[in-house]
Amino acid sequence: MHNTRNILRAGIVGTGFAARFHVEALRKVYGLEVVITGVYSPTEQNCRKFAKESGLECFSSLPSLINESDVVHVCTPPSTHEEIGVEVLRQGKYVVIEKPFTGYFGAGADHFSGDTFNRRTGLEAAIRSVQNLLKAEAASEGQICYAENWVYAPGIQKEREIIEKTGAQILWMHGEEAHSGSHSPFYGRWSFSGGGSIMGKAVHPLGAALYLKQIEGFASQGRPIRPVSVSARTHAVTRSPQFRNLGFIKSAYTDIEDFGSMHIVFEDGMFADIFASELVLGGVHNWIEITANNHRTRVNINPNDSMQSYNPKGTQYKDIYTVEKIETKEGWSNISPDEDWFTGYQSEIQDFYHCAATGGQPQSNSLLAADTIATVYTAYCSAVAGGKEEKIPVC
Ligand SMILES: NC(=O)c1ccc[n+]([C@@H]2O[C@H](COP(=O)([O-])OP(=O)(O)OC[C@H]3O[C@@H](n4cnc5c(N)ncnc54)[C@H](O)[C@@H]3O)[C@@H](O)[C@H]2O)c1
Repeated sequence: MHNTRNILRAGIVGTGFAARFHVEALRKVYGLEVVITGVYSPTEQNCRKFAKESGLECFSSLPSLINESDVVHVCTPPSTHEEIGVEVLRQGKYVVIEKPFTGYFGAGADHFSGDTFNRRTGLEAAIRSVQNLLKAEAASEGQICYAENWVYAPGIQKEREIIEKTGAQILWMHGEEAHSGSHSPFYGRWSFSGGGSIMGKAVHPLGAALYLKQIEGFASQGRPIRPVSVSARTHAVTRSPQFRNLGFIKSAYTDIEDFGSMHIVFEDGMFADIFASELVLGGVHNWIEITANNHRTRVNINPNDSMQSYNPKGTQYKDIYTVEKIETKEGWSNISPDEDWFTGYQSEIQDFYHCAATGGQPQSNSLLAADTIATVYTAYCSAVAGGKEEKIPVC
């Protein structure tokens, strides 16, 4: 029996991009008090800088931060998620784990290359890593909150309501996450990121698609409808000698793909097509379309036309944030007036803290995280076999 709590202490691990929007969202949680205990990063200078800018305490060790927190946010490169997540759960606490959940990072092997390693070895190791986290959760009073923000995007939650109230059957979904390249120095190296566009980007629309089929299953038969097979292709366009680099698209990747597509089949025979790339100009391109037996829905997370602004001179908007990763502020812009809300960050943290306070299970949980990683690493096996359909293992 979990006693409802009115105050929760939050600890943040990592001081990069994700840590910032977690702190922002934590400051807007309602219905209970959240006290941000502090932040930890192995680079003391970064930790101090981040702590000063956000008015937080910089912790000198991870164990001391975990000790003084009720909920720990893992905002670090994917290669570190398993170790930190298992430790937090071992201490009986809720852990918020950023996407991608976990994966295969070469196990520290010398000369590891994301281009050449055996995909089957990668799949088996990724599944083991997922299982270690699931085992730690099963033995813990805490739970895994999988930070898949697409689940909490307002359009996805509205679609959830439509599916639940109309008893819809989803026949086909297609969706994409793309932009013109990542800023993180860890992103382009498989040994930190665990993969390229499929791992870093496709997990978002994939997560939304898997979630909606889960919802349909719970509404129609009391259990989730899960993915059973995947066919995939990947390409490394910006590393191709044929690519003509005009400097608009980021191209500093070491051993990852910068394009991926997956065709996923669910246990009821219905399917989804998911695209991801680092090749698309015009800001973040995040959308999913749902074709059901009784309706059709398009969710435009970004860009969307909630606000459009025409600016004849780019410099006028130099101090104004418009929308993520747009190359220019000149001409028409689809401004996102409350981007954290449209991307689901705010509602995600709200759900996680409501659950941590009451002992509930979040919408975006370890089942979704596990199915996402099993699908991703099976997709890498398929891609190396030229797109052959591969069965997805159950974690
Ligand atoms: N949901 C989203 O929209 C979204 C957006 C951006 C990033 N992310 C995810 O958030 C995570 C972090 O990404 P980021 O862009 O903030 O990266 P980043 O490179 O900006 O920051 C990473 C941080 O982790 C710290 N770190 C590295 N190794 C560590 C370790 N062993 N222990 C503790 N801290 C360590 C680094 O010092 C740094 O502060 C990744 O999993 C990424 O995929 C999610």
